[in-house]
Amino acid sequence: MTRTFLIDTDTASDDAVALIMALRAPDVDVKAITIVSGNVSVDKGTRNALYTLELCGANVPVYRGADRPLLREPANAEWFHGIDGLGDQNYPPPEGRPETTHAVDAIIETILANPGIVVVTLGPLTNLALAVSRAPEIVPLVSRCVVMGGAACTVGNTTPAAEFNIWYDPEAARIVFLSGLPVEMVGWELCRFDAVINPDNIAHVRSLNTTLADFVIDCNARAMQAAFEQSREIGIALPDPVAMAVALDPTICTRSSKHAVDVETQSELTRGMTVVDQLGVSGDSRNGRLWKPVIERSNVTVCWEINVPRWKEMLYDALV
Ligand code: RIB
Ligand code: CA
Repeated sequence: MTRTFLIDTDTASDDAVALIMALRAPDVDVKAITIVSGNVSVDKGTRNALYTLELCGANVPVYRGADRPLLREPANAEWFHGIDGLGDQNYPPPEGRPETTHAVDAIIETILANPGIVVVTLGPLTNLALAVSRAPEIVPLVSRCVVMGGAACTVGNTTPAAEFNIWYDPEAARIVFLSGLPVEMVGWELCRFDAVINPDNIAHVRSLNTTLADFVIDCNARAMQAAFEQSREIGIALPDPVAMAVALDPTICTRSSKHAVDVETQSELTRGMTVVDQLGVSGDSRNGRLWKPVIERSNVTVCWEINVPRWKEMLYDALV
């Protein structure tokens, strides 16, 4: 049975790999790709999405969206993904152009037209937050909202407390997490350690000897170097493709549980922290309500563990 997807992305090098996985999935119909400012500007993200579509020979409408966070000043991650977001490989400009409709309108219209759609977010949540704020009636029409974002009870990658997508626009993330959307949180920690595309995996990808395989390694070469500079990790960490793998096959997530999850927006020290209530105290009147989150119910399904070999096989299968 064909599933419909809407993908919101800030189209940097790992996003591009996630897009390839979705576009190459035989049972997925990607209805729209909406672009948000994040790793790189919304214009660069739009260009990168159009280029990736052409690499896949896919015809999916692309919509330009928010060019800055709801309240905060934009910041980028060009040091990590390259000035152009695709590892500065001098790829040619895409032939295609984005639609004239704004991404927020496109999200609303696409969800209304495709009840049961799966929404996958690969960047900051600005577009989705604006969409659910303007049209809350779309919330019950979304079957899954797989969010690459956050750090579940662990260190962040942008600050000690926060992962980039949530840190970049914490107000937007909080709106989405509290919206009632069926959020499945795939934190950045799930792409680390044995889930990293290590040198042996890189050699295997190269051995596939396809344009897409070479693109995946080439456009993430800068990210690999930056990761080593930052944390001495060797290999390519692919957070968005891991989230896309969970979206494409929920059984890739081998351990998950629902919790109240809130997002820090007040403190600069812990801005963007995804606070996961594993204690189960949110809304608990017994302790005199020592912890007063807005949420008094479990609103987010947190993925704690993935099947790493199957995650990597899914990636390889998309590149042949
Ligand atoms: O923190 C990882 C996230 O930030 C990924 O989506 C990556 O593309 C960047 O946007
Ligand atoms: Ca991203």
